[in-house]
Amino acid sequence: MALTINELELKGFRNYDRFLMQINPGISVVVGPNAIGKTNLLEAIQLVTAGESFRRPKWTEIVKMNEPAALVNMKASGDGQILDVSLKIKNNRREYTINEKRKRPKDLLGRIPCVVFTPDDLFMIKGPAEERRRTIDEAGDQLSASYARLRTTYTRLLKQRNAALRAEVVGEQMGALDEQIVDVGAKLTAHRARLANRLASKAAALYSSMADGEELSVELQPSWTRLGMPNTGCSEDEARAALTKALPKAAREERARMLTTVGPHRDDLIFKIGGVDARTYASQGQQRSAALAWKLAEVGVIEDLLGSKPILLLDDVMSELDKNRRSALTKVLSYTTQTIITTANLQYFAPEMLSSTTVVELAP
Ligand SMILES: Nc1ncnc2c1ncn2[C@@H]1O[C@H](COP(=O)(O)OP(=O)(O)OP(=O)(O)O)[C@@H](O)[C@H]1O
Ligand SMILES: [Mg+2]
Repeated sequence: MALTINELELKGFRNYDRFLMQINPGISVVVGPNAIGKTNLLEAIQLVTAGESFRRPKWTEIVKMNEPAALVNMKASGDGQILDVSLKIKNNRREYTINEKRKRPKDLLGRIPCVVFTPDDLFMIKGPAEERRRTIDEAGDQLSASYARLRTTYTRLLKQRNAALRAEVVGEQMGALDEQIVDVGAKLTAHRARLANRLASKAAALYSSMADGEELSVELQPSWTRLGMPNTGCSEDEARAALTKALPKAAREERARMLTTVGPHRDDLIFKIGGVDARTYASQGQQRSAALAWKLAEVGVIEDLLGSKPILLLDDVMSELDKNRRSALTKVLSYTTQTIITTANLQYFAPEMLSSTTVVELAP
C-alpha cells in the first residue's frame, strides 16, 4: 500500500489566488484551456512530494504576483498513516512542515515518492548529458538516502578539488583530495550504474509495448570513456580502478582548464533505439516515447525498491503521442495507485478510460 494524496490547497501560488482540490486515488484527468493553471498544479504537487520543481524556478517566481507569500498544503493518507505537508514560500525561501513540524526539503524524500513527466522531458533524450544525469539523480535521491548523501558529498569534494586546481595546489594535499574524490566518485558511479540497469530493463519492456516491439536500450557511459578508456564495468571496484587510472591521464587537461574533467559529474546515459543513438537519429515521437518509458520505468523501480508505488504526474502527455501509444500508456496507467494527467482536450482519452477516472475541470 502506498500513501495517496487526498487534498491539495494552494494560496497565492502562481496564477492561483486560492484553490482547493480533493484528489481521488486512481486516475484523475485535469482538463482546462491553455494558461488556466494545469501545469502549475502539477508543480505544486511535485514541490510537496519530491521537494522540487521540474521548472527549476527561482522561488520568488512561484509566488503569485503582488502577493507576499505562496502556500501549498497537502493531506495524504494510507498505510494507517496520515501525512500533512505544507510549504510556504516567502522572500525567495522555502519553509516546509511535515505534520506541523518544521522540516528540511530533503526530509520529504522517500515519503511520497513522485514521478513527473512533462513535454520538456524530451530534452532528456536530445539535450546535453547534464539533463540525463539530472533525471537519474532525481530518481536516485528519492529512492535512497545513501544515493542523496553520496551526491552531496561528491558535489562538495568536486568544488574543493576545482578550487585546488585553480589555486594550483600540488603534492600531498592534492593527493589526499584525489583519493577522496576517487572513493566517493566510484561509489556514486557504481550506484548510478546499478540504478540505470534496473531502469533500463523496465524501460525497454515499456517502450517495446508502446512502440510495436521496437527496441530501446539504455546504458550508463562512465566518465572515463571520454579519455578513450574502455567501459569494462561499473561495479564499485571497477569504477575505483578506472578513476584511479583516469585522473593521471586527465592531469594535463585538468591543470590547463583548472577543472576536474573526469568523475560522475561527467557520466552520461546512452539511449539507443533499434540499436542506434536516439539523441542523433530518433524521431521526435520516438524520443518522446523513450523519455516516457524511462519515467514509467521509475514508477516500477520505486515500487520494487521502496515497496510502494509513487504518485505519477503527467503533463499534457496524450497530445504528443499517436493513437497506439496513447492506448499502450492507458494500459500502464491502470496499474498505478494515483496518477494525475493534465490535458487541454478530453478527446485524447478513450471513453472507456474516462469512465474509470475522475475528471476535474478547471474553468476561468
Ligand atoms: N508568479 C505568478 N503570478 C501570477 N501568474 C503566474 C505566475 N507564474 C505563472 N503564472 C501564470 O500561470 C498561468 C498558467 O500557467 P500553466 O503553465 O499552469 O498553464 P496550463 O494550464 O498548463 O496551460 P497550457 O495548456 O498552455 O500548458 C500562466 O498564464 C502564467 O502567466
Ligand atoms: Mg501546461
